[in-house]
Amino acid sequence: MSDKQEKEQKLMKVFLFDKEKNALVEIIQPKETFADVGGLDEVKKKIEMNFILPLQKPEFFKAYGKKAGGSLLLYGPPGCGKTFIAKAIAGEINANFLHIELQAILSMYIGQSEHNLHDVFEKARESKPCVLFIDELDALGGSRHNMRFHHERTLVNQLLVELDGLDSHNDGIYIIGATNTPWYLDPALKRPGRLNQMIFIPPPSEKEREIILNLKIKDKPQDSLDMKKIASKTNYFSGADLDQLVHDSVEAALERSLESGELQPITNMDILKVLKERKPTTLEWFSTAKNYATFSDVNKDYTTVLDYMKENKIR
Ligand SMILES: Nc1ncnc2c1ncn2[C@@H]1O[C@H](COP(=O)(O)OP(=O)(O)O)[C@@H](O)[C@H]1O
Ligand SMILES: [Mg+2]
Repeated sequence: MSDKQEKEQKLMKVFLFDKEKNALVEIIQPKETFADVGGLDEVKKKIEMNFILPLQKPEFFKAYGKKAGGSLLLYGPPGCGKTFIAKAIAGEINANFLHIELQAILSMYIGQSEHNLHDVFEKARESKPCVLFIDELDALGGSRHNMRFHHERTLVNQLLVELDGLDSHNDGIYIIGATNTPWYLDPALKRPGRLNQMIFIPPPSEKEREIILNLKIKDKPQDSLDMKKIASKTNYFSGADLDQLVHDSVEAALERSLESGELQPITNMDILKVLKERKPTTLEWFSTAKNYATFSDVNKDYTTVLDYMKENKIR
């Protein structure tokens, strides 16, 4: 590592909101990078242009009068890499990274969660430039009028206040939100200047599935595997579904090894056999999404999802 790299590494800090300690804690930098995320090239590119390059080459962006950063809202079916890719950003940039799960912020003590959220934004302002990743926005489930709990409502309000600060004194803070259920998000959160740039994170394509399968299995004892074939048989599987498939196949091979007393590599047969027991977990999400996209999508937020469904023959 060069001196410069070492210096940059030291400057960079990663924080996580720890529920047990009820405070922001500094954590070791996650080791994932974009190389561990299979596919999602468009998303990676967008993140590079919005978050990574402006921090590395600010002079270019300035010259063209292009404002760096802003905010992104990642949404899509569960298990397709929203959290995973956001974590990998921490491994890609030389900026501080704050990762908060809203579930952890929603403290047991009423009134405490707004405090916690405010602390997080304060920390972000102290640590500029930094990326603030707000995961599990689903925790805010429900738009303003049908909110069941008053303290959830006040948390939304607090979030709005903090995000509005973005324009004035949040300069140099980049926000990424993630949710499986964007239609439950308070519409006020999606106004310009807040989390208005929505990015759909779809299930991996056949080619991407092959890449992900190979990534997940790479360090395990294996036969020569026909991942092309496996990829073709795993339509609509999420990254997490593929991870599970590899996990199941490892179990099968391990079991055989223990029985025979010899190390047995994972075979095509192992994978095909466990595949029979597994179904894609993304389709349920699409049927819910279709409902919202068809009947209550006043802002045409989900046209992308409908187009995707048509292209991929999901009904
Ligand atoms: N594109 C991907 N490349 C590699 N692994 C992935 C990908 N998408 C999902 N995974 C795997 O699935 C797991 C769950 O993904 P996650 O990011 O938590 O999904 P969510 O979209 O629900 O946040 C990850 O920890 C990772 O192992
Ligand atoms: Mg997630």
